[in-house]
Amino acid sequence: MLYLNGRFCRAEDAMISALDRGCLFGDGVYEVIPVYSRNPFRLDEHLARLDASLAAISLPNPHTPLQWAELVREVIRLQAYDDQSVYLHVTRGNAGERDFPFPAGVAPTVLINPSPLVTPSPEAKAKGVRAISHADFRWLRCDIKSLNLLPTVLLREAAKQQGCAECLMFRDGMLTEGAASNVFVVKQGVIACPPKNHLILPGITYDLVIELARQHGVPMEVRPVTEAEVRNADELWMTSSTREVLAIVELDGQAVGDGCVGPMARQLDQYYQDFKRTVMRAGKE
Ligand code: PDD
Repeated sequence: MLYLNGRFCRAEDAMISALDRGCLFGDGVYEVIPVYSRNPFRLDEHLARLDASLAAISLPNPHTPLQWAELVREVIRLQAYDDQSVYLHVTRGNAGERDFPFPAGVAPTVLINPSPLVTPSPEAKAKGVRAISHADFRWLRCDIKSLNLLPTVLLREAAKQQGCAECLMFRDGMLTEGAASNVFVVKQGVIACPPKNHLILPGITYDLVIELARQHGVPMEVRPVTEAEVRNADELWMTSSTREVLAIVELDGQAVGDGCVGPMARQLDQYYQDFKRTVMRAGKE
């Protein structure tokens, strides 16, 4: 069951117009919220990021945080499984024609569509994954969680073709992020990750990993990270709502460090898994 424009229905009964601006222009924004034991994780933060994305594209938020929370919780309740990945998007709706400027008086399209949460396999966690890299050829507002995902669709496909799980991106010699994840580097026991700005998505998992590192006294720097630092890192990992903390052990065919999941990645993943068990599953956040 999903939610579309005011009603709950089966996916096969959910219809969106071919003239929806999300379809014609990618004119909309989205969120992916992980749900553990039917508890949406950091829902307020995801809804705040959604609100920021909507504001950035001048699309009025159709719901208050309370209304959103009620809708999301109802959709979660309607599923047959406990751990979910709740995809939601808001588009500028169906104006009945293809014209670039904003239409007047058109209701936005609201879709909330959960699926079972798929986190990395035990093998991927134990052995880490491979990644490629590419120039970051996206636009300059990567802080907006926009529906326009063609650049990263192409990069993730390129990664897949090469047996890799992610594509790391560099802009002007600096690390930005992964195609659908944030990226952390480790050198000599110190973790570093790029600061939040218009060039990366402000990840909810990124925030949590930084919090966990600080809470446990692990040296952690939020600062610009160069491409050279990434290529010479002792460890690399990516974070996202679905990937959690996932070590990258090979980049562009070169081993990262000794080519195995490193101690810091293991440690941060352990903190993340403990937090997931004791806080997220318990619905304490
Ligand atoms: N993507 N950076 C980009 C470009 C992303 O698309 C994502 C998440 C992240 C990590 O954000 P978070 O920790 O809040 O999930 C960073 C989602 C999962 C997706 O598009 O499916």
